[in-house]
Amino acid sequence: MSHDKCEVLKWGRVAQPARCLCRASRSSARFVAPLGCLVSRQKHTLPDLPYDYAALEPHINAEIMQLHHSKHHATYVNNLNVVEEKYKEALAKGDVTTQVSLQPALKFNGGGHINHSIFWTNLSPNGGGEPKGELMEAIKRDFGSFTNFKEKLTAVSVGVQGSGWGWLGYNKEQGRLQIAACANQDPLQGTTGLIPLLGIDVWEHAYYLQYKNVRPDYLKAIWNVINWENVSSRYATCKK
Ligand SMILES: [Fe+2]
Repeated sequence: MSHDKCEVLKWGRVAQPARCLCRASRSSARFVAPLGCLVSRQKHTLPDLPYDYAALEPHINAEIMQLHHSKHHATYVNNLNVVEEKYKEALAKGDVTTQVSLQPALKFNGGGHINHSIFWTNLSPNGGGEPKGELMEAIKRDFGSFTNFKEKLTAVSVGVQGSGWGWLGYNKEQGRLQIAACANQDPLQGTTGLIPLLGIDVWEHAYYLQYKNVRPDYLKAIWNVINWENVSSRYATCKK
């Protein structure tokens, strides 16, 4: 298979350099490409976490991580596969009405899979602190200072009404970083065009078991586990 036909890692570059997993077995795909190879119609699979469920404690506890990954993310993956099968059938039949009716479910479950695949790699038990190098320079250029950036992304994330995500994204046309909020599981790039660098999940399932209704406390804690190496690597990649 020609690897240049694979839409691998377009959305969710994970903890390793980009690589096509067309020929990798699912069982060995620890860092599986979040969207797999669409050309081969391979079913999407739940990527393993690059750390243990308890690894982010005390900032995010093991119970949250286990449910979030093994139940919530897994459900998005399973539903995405079901929707894609139906979509494929509708395409084959030329049934445009059904194709259109499936789009909300595709957006929700596809977005859920994309977003969480990014989110896990944006976190690390060795995270926290501040970014370095080009990313830090860009943050200072576009937000004035790292403190300003942190405050702004925190405020935007806390302010999401209901369920959604706060994002740091890259505006490729303008060559600058931007902060954005997305509702529900709307994927950042698919809905705004910004390339996702850092996503903060502010659905209640991401924090309620530990922080109850106090979303701002979760937002304070999450900065201690942000994997700046991963965010920097995404930034370097999308600038190419
Ligand atoms: Fe989530």
